[in-house]
Amino acid sequence: MDARLETAARVHEIAPFHVMEVQTAARALEAAGRSVIHMEIGEPDFPTPAPVIAAAQRGIESGAVYYTSALGLPELREAIAVHYRDHYRVTVETDRVIVTAGSSAALLLAMALLVNRDEQILLADPGYPCTRHLVRTLEGEPVGIPVGAATDYQLTAELISRAWTPRTRGALIASPANPTGTMVPRDELKRIAATIGSKRGVLLVDEIYLGLSYAGEPRSALELGEDTFVVSSFSKYFNMTGWRLGWLVAPRRHVRDLEKLAQNLYISPPTPSQRAALACFEPATLTILEERRREFQARRDFLVPALRALGFGIPVMPTGGFFVYADCSPFGMDSERFAMRALEATGVAFTPGIDFGRNRPEAHVRFAYTIARPKLEEGIRRLCAWLPTLQQK
Ligand SMILES: Cc1ncc(COP(=O)(O)O)c(C=O)c1O
Repeated sequence: MDARLETAARVHEIAPFHVMEVQTAARALEAAGRSVIHMEIGEPDFPTPAPVIAAAQRGIESGAVYYTSALGLPELREAIAVHYRDHYRVTVETDRVIVTAGSSAALLLAMALLVNRDEQILLADPGYPCTRHLVRTLEGEPVGIPVGAATDYQLTAELISRAWTPRTRGALIASPANPTGTMVPRDELKRIAATIGSKRGVLLVDEIYLGLSYAGEPRSALELGEDTFVVSSFSKYFNMTGWRLGWLVAPRRHVRDLEKLAQNLYISPPTPSQRAALACFEPATLTILEERRREFQARRDFLVPALRALGFGIPVMPTGGFFVYADCSPFGMDSERFAMRALEATGVAFTPGIDFGRNRPEAHVRFAYTIARPKLEEGIRRLCAWLPTLQQK
């Protein structure tokens, strides 16, 4: 029987992650003995810091293997609130912090709380694909708004105002963003919050990359007040992708409903991971993480000018995360073909724009600087040798 006849319509509208296809092709090349430079991978190459692993081991040995509260371990919720105070100088009440199974589950909880059938959530295009798929899974309508260099690839109050309809429920902003690495300036974020507030809508801000900021002191959208929903994670800055742990800070009046949803959707976030994460905020761990953040910044400082010198268009300097979104149209073919041909010819793997929306994906590719600098340099050397041969054809 045709699988499509058996499955719900939402599944047909959710695209696979194309980056996985690049990764599969890259791994196949490696298995055949080729050397591959992986610039497609969206997770830090650094291992989880040793104090965090030690805390996990202690936790498991002491029997911390049972469910916790759906809202998370009280001491971890408290530690996250203290981190906001110490690191971002913003006061967040502990009872507004909900620990989740990755920021993916935080996004799921927030969307399940807020979005009715056919209600719209405004999103930047290009943007992180899972968000729009999540909205669709919940029978809402993700509305991608094309953004470009003029607004640092971010939504603005004006763009949100123009796109707003009677069916719009709110907007989600990622700052810093995937795939562009750009941030929303503080004043613009205030304007966005005011615009959405005046329409009685909701603002969600995905701050999963906020710890990896390279443009001065990072500020959290929690400064805007209690009504903003903020999603974050232990995955990226804390180097804990596989531990599946993140958090949501929500208005206090919604915490009870969010707890109910978490109880029903996944019971509780993973207990050993929560015990591990308690060590994330210790000075020894933060020292390791800050050193790694500086290394990411050094990689960015090498990679962006190097790609520009090769002919890629990067009109806005990324200021956070570990991605560079580059215009590859000067090389005369669409981004999917370009990425596959580059992989075959040079062994350099990167992601075609198609994963990130409908706004000229064929003209863009995403490079991740989640590999050591010597490898980045080797990747650039290989592209530098290959690209001129391409242009001659
Ligand atoms: C912008 C953004 N938000 C959310 C996530 C989800 O991450 P996690 O569930 O590991 O916290 C990712 C992962 O790449 C991301 O890039």
